[in-house]
Amino acid sequence: MKLKNLINFDEQQQVFHLHNGNISYILGIDEGGVLSHLYFGPRIKNYHGQLKNPRKDRGFSDNLPEAQERTFSLDFVLQEYSSQGDGDFRNPAAIIRQANGSYSARFVYKDYKISFGKPQLDGLPAAYVIKKNEAQTLKIILEDQVNQLELILIYTIYQDYDVIARSVELINKSDKSVHIEKLASMQLDLPAGKKQQVISLPGAHANERQLQREDINAGTKVFESRRGTTSHQMNNFIAICDSQTDEFQGNIIGLSFVYSGNHKEEIEKDQYGATRILVGINNEQFDWEVKSQQTFQTPEVLMTYSAQGMNKMSDNLHRLMRERVARGKYKFAPRPILVNNWEATFMDFDENKLKPIVDEAKKLGIEMFVLDDGWFGHRDDDNTSLGDWKVFARKFPQGLKRFVDYIHANGLKFGLWFEPEMISIDSELYQQHPDYMLKVPGSKPSPSRNQYVLDMGRQEVRDNIYNQMTAILDSCQIDYVKWDMNRHLTDIYSPVLPANCQGEVLHRYVLGLYQMLEKITTEYPDILWEGCSGGGGRFDAGFLYYMPQSWTSDNTDAVARIKIQYGTSIAYPISSMTAHVSASPNQQTGRLTSMKTRGEVAMSGVLGYELDLTKLSSVDKKEVQAQIAFYKKIRSLVQYGKFIRLISPYDNNRCAWMFVSDDKNEAIVFSFKIMSEAQPAFEILKLSGLDADKTYKNLDTGAVIGGDELMNTGFYEPITQADFSSQVYHFKALAG
Ligand code: GLA
Repeated sequence: MKLKNLINFDEQQQVFHLHNGNISYILGIDEGGVLSHLYFGPRIKNYHGQLKNPRKDRGFSDNLPEAQERTFSLDFVLQEYSSQGDGDFRNPAAIIRQANGSYSARFVYKDYKISFGKPQLDGLPAAYVIKKNEAQTLKIILEDQVNQLELILIYTIYQDYDVIARSVELINKSDKSVHIEKLASMQLDLPAGKKQQVISLPGAHANERQLQREDINAGTKVFESRRGTTSHQMNNFIAICDSQTDEFQGNIIGLSFVYSGNHKEEIEKDQYGATRILVGINNEQFDWEVKSQQTFQTPEVLMTYSAQGMNKMSDNLHRLMRERVARGKYKFAPRPILVNNWEATFMDFDENKLKPIVDEAKKLGIEMFVLDDGWFGHRDDDNTSLGDWKVFARKFPQGLKRFVDYIHANGLKFGLWFEPEMISIDSELYQQHPDYMLKVPGSKPSPSRNQYVLDMGRQEVRDNIYNQMTAILDSCQIDYVKWDMNRHLTDIYSPVLPANCQGEVLHRYVLGLYQMLEKITTEYPDILWEGCSGGGGRFDAGFLYYMPQSWTSDNTDAVARIKIQYGTSIAYPISSMTAHVSASPNQQTGRLTSMKTRGEVAMSGVLGYELDLTKLSSVDKKEVQAQIAFYKKIRSLVQYGKFIRLISPYDNNRCAWMFVSDDKNEAIVFSFKIMSEAQPAFEILKLSGLDADKTYKNLDTGAVIGGDELMNTGFYEPITQADFSSQVYHFKALAG
C-alpha cells in the first residue's frame, strides 16, 4: 500500500501544509510560538512563504511579553486558535477558568505529530476512514506553560474528499482542576479582502433550514442553539462565501458541526477587516471541570472548500457524509418506500383500523408500514405514557407480534416509532423514578407538549429505557425505528452532579445519548434507523453517524417542502432526507396541491407516504402506484447520485434541481412552478453536470439532445395554468 503524503512540515519556514488534489490549508509557527493561519483555498503546489503575517505597530494593540519590537500583536495576527487575556481582544476560541480563578491562558507551539488515517473521537460521532491511506492527520500540540495545560489541535485531510476535519483536545497536566467555559472545535481567521457573506440555515418547527444569506459586517454575528439540541431554529451549519459566489461559481467555505446539542457559530469582522470564525459547543450554560491529568475532547467540525460555488460545496459534504459519516447496512442500500400512519390516523387507531392501510399499501407497491406514536402505555393523546414502552393492549389485543406478522405476511417490512428521551408525568416510569427527569430542586419543571426530558447523562436512566426498548425490539421482527424527540431542554440540573458541575449537564446529555445510540444501533444492525425531532429539529452530521436518514420536517406541504428540502440540501445528502406524500388539503398549511406535485417533491428525497391510503380515490391510487413504480427505477440515482440545484425557490417563482449518475449516463430533473401567472415569461431550463460530448434521450418524449445543448441552450419549459405545478425530465445517454 503506497502512502501518499497529504501533510508536509517545512522545517525551515516552520510551516505546515495540508493538501490534496484540490485544496490546501497552510499554517505556520510565528513569533513567540504563536500558531498563525496562512491560507485555505485552491491547491498550492509549493508554498514559498510569502504570506507571513505582516508587522505593524498599531495603537492599543498589546505585544507579546518577550517581544523586542512593538509590531507583533495577537490583536491582529491571523491565528489558528485563540484564548483570553493575552492581548487578543476578538472572540476567543477558548475560555478557561484556571485553578487560581484567572481567565488568562496563552498557548504556544510545542510539538507536532503527523500520522496516516484518522483517530476516532472517544464517545463522539466523527467522520472516519475505511483505509488508512485515504487521509492523514496532523496534531499540533500547544502548551500553556504557566497553567500546565496542553491544547491539541487535530486536523485530518482526506485524499479524495475536499474536506478537513477539525477538533481540539485539552489536557490538564497540572495537579489542580480547571474549568472550561468555552472550547471551540475550530477557529478560522480569514484575511481582510473581498466583501464576504455568510450563509446559514435558520427556521422554526415545521419550517426548518430556510436558506439565509447576508453580508458580513463589522462586529460579531452569532448563529446558535441554546435549546439543548441542534434545533429547528438554527442548524449547526454555516458557509462563508464571496458576494459574487452562486450555485455554480465562486469561492465558498462550508462548516458543518458534527454534534447534536447546543452549538454556536460566531463570525466576527474585526477592526482591520479580517474575519474570525468559531464553531463549537455553545458556551452558555457550559462549564466543564477538567481534573488533573484528565482531558476534554471537543466534537468535530467538517470544513470544506469549493472554488466552484455552492453546488460543489454541497457535493463535497454530501459525499463525505454519505460515505464517511453515515454507517451501517443502509448506508448505500435502497431505502424502503414506507407508509407512516401518523398523518393518517394520529393516535386514533387500533390494529383493525390499520390493517386495511397495510392491505392498500401492498397493492400500491409500498415496501414498509411504520407504526407511529400511540402504540404504547395507554396513549390516546400526547398527555401520557412516554417512558412506558409496553404495547397498548386495547389497540393490539393480540399483541404487537400478531400485527407485525400480518404485515410481514403481506410482504411489507415493519417500522416502529419511539421517543426514548422523554417522560410523561402520567406514566409508570414517573411513578417509579420521578427523579429521572431534568428538574431543578425546589422548582416546578416546564412542560412542553405536556412532556418532560429524561436526564440522558445518567447511566441508570439510559439502561432503563434501553431495556424497555430492546424488549420490544426482541419481541418481533422490527425492520425500522424512528427515534423521535419532541421538545427542547429546560430545567437544566442533574441530581448526580455537584453544584460546580451543573454546567456539564447539557453536554453530558448529548454524550449519554450518543452512548445509547452507539450501543443500540450496533446491537441491532439490521434495523434502518431514522432520526427525528418534531420533524427536522436534530438534522445534523452527528445524528447522521448513528442514523443514515432523518425526518426532514413535520411540514409535509409540498410547496413549503420545496424550500425546506432546498435549504436542507445545502448541507446534507439527499439519502438522509425523508419526504412523504400527505393528504391535500395539507394538515399544516391547508393548501391544496395535486398528487403529481406532492409525489414529485417527495420523490426528490427518500420517498414515503403519510396519509390514509384507503381514502384515496381510484384515480389517486393509480397515480400513487405509478409514482412508486417510477421511484423504484430512479431511487438509486436520487438517493446516491450527484444532486445539483438549478433554480432557487428563494429568489424565484420556480425551483429546479436534478440528479446525475456518476457516469453521467442518466439524469433526472424536477422543476416546480410555484404560482401560476396570466402572462408568464417563457422560461428556459438549463441543466448541469452532464457530459457535453454525450447525446441524451428524453425518455418520455423520445427527443434526442446533446449534453452541450442541455447545459447551454437549455429548453423551454411548458406553460402551466395552475398553481404549484411540477415537471419531471428523465434523460439517458445514448450508447456510443
Ligand atoms: C413528531 C414527529 C411526527 C410524529 C409525531 C408523533 O412531531 O415529527 O412525525 O411522529 O411526533 O407524536
